[in-house]
Amino acid sequence: MSAATPLLAVSDLRVSYRVAGLDLPALGFKARHVQAVNGVSLAIDAGDTLGIVGESGCGKSTLARAILGLTQVESGEVRYDGALITPRERLSLARLRGQVAMIFQDPYASLNPRMPVGEALAEVLRVHRKVEPQAIEARVADLLRLVGLSPQMAQRRPHQLSGGQCQRAGIARALAIEPRLIIADECVAALDVSIQAQILNLLLELQQSMKLALIFISHDLGVVRHLCRRIAIMYLGQVVEEGLTEEVFAAPRHPYTRALLAAVPDTNPDHQLAPQTLRGDPPSPLDLPTGCAFHPRCPHCEDICASGTRPTLRAARMGQVACHFDF
Ligand SMILES: Nc1ncnc2c1ncn2[C@@H]1O[C@H](COP(=O)(O)OP(=O)(O)OP(=O)(O)O)[C@@H](O)[C@H]1O
Ligand SMILES: [Mg+2]
Repeated sequence: MSAATPLLAVSDLRVSYRVAGLDLPALGFKARHVQAVNGVSLAIDAGDTLGIVGESGCGKSTLARAILGLTQVESGEVRYDGALITPRERLSLARLRGQVAMIFQDPYASLNPRMPVGEALAEVLRVHRKVEPQAIEARVADLLRLVGLSPQMAQRRPHQLSGGQCQRAGIARALAIEPRLIIADECVAALDVSIQAQILNLLLELQQSMKLALIFISHDLGVVRHLCRRIAIMYLGQVVEEGLTEEVFAAPRHPYTRALLAAVPDTNPDHQLAPQTLRGDPPSPLDLPTGCAFHPRCPHCEDICASGTRPTLRAARMGQVACHFDF
């Protein structure tokens, strides 16, 4: 692959969930759908770090699950290393899942409660044929050491571990496949604040030493800023701004990004943003606004925002923004 090909590229991806009702249009019944991901395009290069932020319900987890083929995609494309991933071609999906690992929010729910942690790691090594059977035990011990756990922990079941230890085991399991990309979905949100920093530092160290690509999904802008070179801001199923993290923080372009950043306590006097507050709650994804989905809450809303076409991402500096106006 040429250097210009991103490791992972998603284009115009759409995912909707049917939430209620019969789908019998001939009889006048129409099922209701939540448009959870509404035309997302983004890409990440090998070894790079991308943070995805946005309010609860904006579609971050759905996007992650759709990338891994865990949720049915309505339309759009996922390309890994340039190759199109389609659920019908099981080989392409198997290749993706052999190189892209996910770390979930709840470390206890993502491990089998009945299975000792070492056994769970051994199972991944066996399924992905990563090492010879006789080398599995040693590799499990290596993986546990890599995430700061003692190899004796292999005997323990998830409930015999603390939250932080359990998330370390979750990271070890992700690393067992020797991934090129890790997608971490709110992976510290369930942990005590004192433990969060340890886990984040571990993730960052591993990302750098192994040259992994990392997609880091979080509510926490401060953490994303610390961890990620690029950032994508999502609003109601759409990426509204994407770019170099430092540029986006220094001069956010989209009014939604500006409002999000203004809400973050900032101790740096160089980062003075006009205080802006977000008006109201996000509209229901069951009934998306016309035009720009952000227009009902936007302090700069003009007629075109409500009645025009939905703005799509366009180039802005080293990134992209989806807004009719330049700020
Ligand atoms: N299985 C499902 N069935 C129906 N609707 C769903 C399902 N999963 C998610 N949704 C809806 O899809 C939208 C996007 O949800 P998603 O979980 O992807 O958001 P999120 O950004 O990850 O939120 P959070 O920050 O709270 O984790 C929400 O409106 C949610 O209610
Ligand atoms: Mg989520």
